[in-house]
Amino acid sequence: MTAAERAATTRTTAARTTTDRDTAGPSAVRSVEPSAAPVLTAADLTAADLIADPGAHRVLTGDRPTGPLHLGHYFGTLQNRVRLQDQGVEMFVLVADYQVITDRDLADRLAEHTENLVLDYLAAGLDPERATIFAHSAVPALNQLLLPFLSLVSVAELSRNPTVKDEIAHSSQAAVNGLMFTYPVHQAADILFCKADLVPVGQDQLPHLEVARTVARRFNERYPHADGSAVFPRPRALLSEAPMLLGTDGGKMSKSRGNAVALGADEDETARIIRGARTDADRRITYDPTGRPGVSGLVLLAALCQDRAPETIAEEIGDGGAAVLKRTVIESVNEYFRPLRVRRAELATDRGHLRQVLRAGAERANAIADATLAEVREVMGAI
Ligand code: TRP
Repeated sequence: MTAAERAATTRTTAARTTTDRDTAGPSAVRSVEPSAAPVLTAADLTAADLIADPGAHRVLTGDRPTGPLHLGHYFGTLQNRVRLQDQGVEMFVLVADYQVITDRDLADRLAEHTENLVLDYLAAGLDPERATIFAHSAVPALNQLLLPFLSLVSVAELSRNPTVKDEIAHSSQAAVNGLMFTYPVHQAADILFCKADLVPVGQDQLPHLEVARTVARRFNERYPHADGSAVFPRPRALLSEAPMLLGTDGGKMSKSRGNAVALGADEDETARIIRGARTDADRRITYDPTGRPGVSGLVLLAALCQDRAPETIAEEIGDGGAAVLKRTVIESVNEYFRPLRVRRAELATDRGHLRQVLRAGAERANAIADATLAEVREVMGAI
């Protein structure tokens, strides 16, 4: 048992005196765990638990392999993952390949996207010696956890998930497939197979985290160990403090909308995309995210790259207008990402190494998933 598992077990066992009520579940069982705050900010953790005892935590997070990661991913989550890794927290980083086929019929160029995701991870500073990087399709026991977990949630709960609803609304598919409907439970298996207690995610993932917490709680209630201890910790979200970066069209930054600068983009491509960003007619540059989302998004991007306050950047540009603003952003981005891009280009020449990272990650993930599944089967009476 690792330190994280020990800590988690102690926490859940010690908490058995508190109650909170659950009326939503299929069995409407009574909870035996505390209603600990489900969401933490990075600041909460850096200050308290993590620095004091990084070894007491296990972090899992992941991405769908649907295309290259962009600057929004970098400042929203990648940077934070590397920080956690460097603080000595045990990291699991998942390539969620099964999730690709939730809203499309074919997992197009999956192997290529998967390798490129690993490339972006390594270029950003994730270290395969310290972080376990793996694809969940390569870990059978993780996927088998989906079956018992599905028995713990009601169809009504699945259909209420706001993130799934939103994805269904934006899907181009004629019909909603069963995986789309149940993938938050699969995601609970992603998190719980390794007994992660912290999950760095964006706001849109909070409903999924709630599903994972519910599954953990109900499993622990229904199938405790003989000594009364719990199998799973209740994972908590670790919300990034970085403000959300908008795309160059003022909408959500997304690789499919063509409004994002990829981490691996070259300097000319970066300049071209930023020059095309939407701004407004007011020459005076200010930082006003609600009133002027286009201009402010650019100011924020320069600020993140320069590690300075957006207000200061805006003031410096003053009456320089959109042209000076864009020149500043292009220079800041290209300068900040130059070392990462050099590293990325070097790593890209050795595809065999990327595959090897995934193989080694899968081997480690399989060992952990096999142990968890064995434990699950034992408490469930060997099914
Ligand atoms: N759903 C996440 C996304 O679309 C990816 C993901 C899959 C994930 N499994 C996870 C994130 C487990 C955190 C934990 O970005």
